[in-house]
Amino acid sequence: MLGHGVGLRTPHFKRAIEEGLDVDWVEAISENFFGEGGRPRRVLERLRRDMPIALHGVGMGIGSAQPVAQDYLDRLQRLIERVEPAWVSDHLCWGRSSGHHTHDLLPLPHTEESLAHVVREVARVQTILGRQIALENVSSYVSYRQCDMDEWTFLAQVAERADCLILLDINNIVVNAHNHGFDPLDYLAGVPPARVIQLHLANHSKRDHYCFDDHRGAVPAEVWTLYETALRVLGPVSTLVEWDSEIPAWEVLRAEQREAAARAEAILGGDDGPG
Ligand SMILES: [Fe+2]
Repeated sequence: MLGHGVGLRTPHFKRAIEEGLDVDWVEAISENFFGEGGRPRRVLERLRRDMPIALHGVGMGIGSAQPVAQDYLDRLQRLIERVEPAWVSDHLCWGRSSGHHTHDLLPLPHTEESLAHVVREVARVQTILGRQIALENVSSYVSYRQCDMDEWTFLAQVAERADCLILLDINNIVVNAHNHGFDPLDYLAGVPPARVIQLHLANHSKRDHYCFDDHRGAVPAEVWTLYETALRVLGPVSTLVEWDSEIPAWEVLRAEQREAAARAEAILGGDDGPG
């Protein structure tokens, strides 16, 4: 349990180097730090002296039909060796087809065939990296005609069968509950608590006919409420605030991190870790 952190973003690099960041831990987007030197690397090395860092990838596309490229895994492995992260995560999605990378986190069909495929690939990647990885539930705006199980059953089955961990994005549950018409409490009840190593909190916006996961703004009330419920169901879990668009001043982001810590403290008492 690392406590409460924030996603490390470029506008806060200057502060990170000059003063450090007064949160319990940070999550760095792996691919942004694949380069061998420069300012991003200095930021990471500076922060790593003070606090744990988790590596969060956006490019693995682990559910794609083609396997994750060896070159990608080599670069990730070199970063892992340098940073010694608390854990490594990416998304339960696909994004590559016929050599083309969409740079989107596309949802997988929740079928037995797709499940068997992604379980094999997660196991292969974990063997190559020599460690467990955590996979995050993604937001989605479409569903597939073919469907053998609920999203949360699919996520739980991947974790159990591939023996991997879960990064549970609370905002993505709220978004998908709205877009696909399920009860978020069913989702929480279907996730194996022992597999959940981290939570994400973020913002979304309501559009005409759907809910959009834009990470632009403070965590909304609906997400805070589900976060509190998740803590009652799961117990203490390392939690991170993601703010990716129109990124605010450090103090504003830190206030969100403090809010997450305060809500955890109110629910879990002194059992909520360092934050
Ligand atoms: Fe997330």
